[in-house]
Amino acid sequence: MAKLLLLNGPNLNLLGQREPDIYGATTLADIETACQALASAQGHELDCAQSNSESDLIQKIHDARTAGVAYVVINPAGFTHSSVALRDALLATGIPFIEVHLSNIHKREAFRQHSYFSDIAEGVICGFGALGYELALRAVFQKLGHSDARTSQT
Ligand code: DQA
Repeated sequence: MAKLLLLNGPNLNLLGQREPDIYGATTLADIETACQALASAQGHELDCAQSNSESDLIQKIHDARTAGVAYVVINPAGFTHSSVALRDALLATGIPFIEVHLSNIHKREAFRQHSYFSDIAEGVICGFGALGYELALRAVFQKLGHSDARTSQT
C-alpha cells in the first residue's frame, strides 16, 4: 500500500462551470471521488487537495514528504507557466510526480506551451480531460509495481 497525493492548482475548484468547452463538465469533486475509488481498488491511499494559493500548494508538497507520500499527481493549472517556487518544492522533496492537464496546452496560446514541470516530471498527460487523472494514476500504479518507490510501510 502506498500513499499518493492528487494536487490541483488555482481555479480548478471551478471545474464543471469554468470554460466547460475547454475543461469539460466534470467537477473536481467527481474527479477526486473517481480517483480515490481507483486508488483504493489497487490497495493504495489517495489524498486529494486543491488550492488557489501557491504557498498552500508548496506546503502540501513539503507535508507529503513528511507523510511518506510515494507519488504525486499534479495539475499545477496556471502555476504551470509561472511557478519556479512550486517546481523547486517538487525538486526539494524528490517525490516523483506526474503532470496532468485537462486541455492540450500545446494546442493553445503560446504562453501555455511552456511548463516549469514537464522536464522534471516522470510523465505528462494532457488533452484528455478528466480521463487524464485516471491515466496518470494507472501510470503511477505501474511505476509503483516496478520500482522501489517509498511506501507507507517504509
Ligand atoms: C490547465 C491548463 C493551464 O494552462 C490553465 O492555466 C489551467 C488548467 C489544464 O488542466 O488544462 O488552469 O492546467
